[in-house]
Amino acid sequence: MSLVIRSATTADVPEVVAFWAVAGENDDRPTDSEGAVVRLVERDPDALLLALNGDVLVGTVVAGWDGWRAHLYRLAVLPERRGQGVANALLDAAEERLVRLGAGRLDAMVLDGNELGQAVWRKRGFARQQRWGRWVKPVVR
Ligand SMILES: CC(C)(COP(=O)(O)OP(=O)(O)OC[C@H]1O[C@@H](n2cnc3c(N)ncnc32)[C@H](O)[C@@H]1OP(=O)(O)O)[C@@H](O)C(=O)NCCC(=O)NCCS
Repeated sequence: MSLVIRSATTADVPEVVAFWAVAGENDDRPTDSEGAVVRLVERDPDALLLALNGDVLVGTVVAGWDGWRAHLYRLAVLPERRGQGVANALLDAAEERLVRLGAGRLDAMVLDGNELGQAVWRKRGFARQQRWGRWVKPVVR
């Protein structure tokens, strides 16, 4: 499968949000909104990477860099295009970006029950941290 990896623009946002509804890991997390993704792309135009086969969106990943930490999230591949290296191609590009920006460590959040997701991160050299857990506080507007 021929693949082009490129940064998303705000024009891609509706398609990306629709894509995540069918291709993403959507358990135990807030629902995606177009406004949130537009904010991401406007703040960091190279953070959201898309994999395209022709004009078909087949995969995404966010490679977020805040100057201190590097976070990978929203890794998703179209169900009918899985097992063909799309995630590997996206993660090659994402890791290259984050290392180039200065990151010394990369992280990804993975649901405990997501064995397929865990297999991908493990294969990429990621390992679960044993001594740290994530603490969260939802913002009430
Ligand atoms: C997880 C996901 C992104 C993988 O995408 P993909 O394009 O199929 O992955 P790739 O073909 O690039 O494979 C990447 C690596 O993952 C592993 N992998 C992929 N599919 C696998 C499977 N079914 N079983 C075990 N390992 C698998 C392989 O080790 C592979 O590396 P290798 O080819 O060098 O051996 C895809 O299944 C997906 O979108 N799942 C739903 C969303 C999700 O769970 N995202 C991850 C959130 S943490």
